[in-house]
Amino acid sequence: MKLKPLKIRNLTSEFPVVQAGMGVRIGNATLAAEVVKSGGFGTIASVGFGRVDITIDGFVAEGCRCLAQEIRTAKELCHNRKPLGVNIMVALSTYKEFVEVCVREKVDFIISGAGLPLPLPEYVGDADIALIPVISSARALEVVVRCWSRKYHRKPDAIIIEGPKCGGHLGFAMEQIEHPETTALDRLLPECREVMKRYDIDVPVLAAGEIASRADIEKFIAMGYDGVQIGTYFITAEEAGIDRRSKEVFINATHDDIVIIKSPVGLPCRVLRTPLVQRVLAGSQEPFRCPYHCLRTCNPRKAPFCIAKALLATWSGDVENGLYMCGCNIDAVKEIYPVKQFFDTLKD
Ligand SMILES: Cc1cc2nc3c(=O)[nH]c(=O)nc-3n(C[C@H](O)[C@H](O)[C@H](O)COP(=O)(O)O)c2cc1C
Repeated sequence: MKLKPLKIRNLTSEFPVVQAGMGVRIGNATLAAEVVKSGGFGTIASVGFGRVDITIDGFVAEGCRCLAQEIRTAKELCHNRKPLGVNIMVALSTYKEFVEVCVREKVDFIISGAGLPLPLPEYVGDADIALIPVISSARALEVVVRCWSRKYHRKPDAIIIEGPKCGGHLGFAMEQIEHPETTALDRLLPECREVMKRYDIDVPVLAAGEIASRADIEKFIAMGYDGVQIGTYFITAEEAGIDRRSKEVFINATHDDIVIIKSPVGLPCRVLRTPLVQRVLAGSQEPFRCPYHCLRTCNPRKAPFCIAKALLATWSGDVENGLYMCGCNIDAVKEIYPVKQFFDTLKD
């Protein structure tokens, strides 16, 4: 199958691939810029670029400053090529401020999930930015499109459907995750298309979850999707932001090492059973102090560990204390490779 370009609003990529925003600092400027240069949609994950050992006021300003810098670095690295965008989780306490940074820095698109991105069009205003909500059910899609059309007369420019086999936080109940066939991407697509038809929305729909090869992409295009979002497979790209020791944890892991935990974000989260996770599953309360409350949905007094601290440990290669979020297709992650190598397999 010949893979067609992906067109979202006024943006086009050579291949129908969006690189997933992956925090903390996995989806950084280097990875996003290289994806843009190779022919995909490159996405910076907005979370966690600033220092975290500072007060709440400093934390917001520092996060905004560092995100702006990361966007500028990415633009420089890809020589201002498009489409370069940012992923902003709704659960972030700095959600509005980060959207405003994206407007000021003129990114091409914003991908937003981990909650329903209801106020996104208001924060973006009339800036020329493609808005791409991430949803995991037709019901969630309907809530978003109804709100956007009534309040802002705005439609999504594309829609990402995250299935139950994705890495990281999952918009599903535990029973659905245990029986992924009930909410599989082939079932979610017609349900979402039905909502789109009712609201007269004709935009690309992208599949996310368990995609790591040209064959996987072709499978989802044949199913009726317009493209895909890929996360886990890009974690061990040379250009991805985390330390080599952490990339090796992903490479050495197998499907049997995966476990679902309840994350401090308040959602189920697919991770590897690394030392931190083993301790938490055994009932450990990891010591931390939280001066900044980075997630609106986290209760630091009840959370067994600080997810920001754990993801920064992953970034720095601290395997004992890191949290290793990953998708079901961890077995496809076998090496550290240049991003271009993957995109070359998509050429005819
Ligand atoms: C390590 C990791 C970090 C992630 N970070 C984010 C994030 O910051 N924001 C977000 O919306 N989704 C995040 N996700 C979810 C991805 O954006 C994506 O939808 C998902 O990983 C796709 O499935 P795949 O990993 O099987 O390719 C993350 C996933 C992983 C594996």
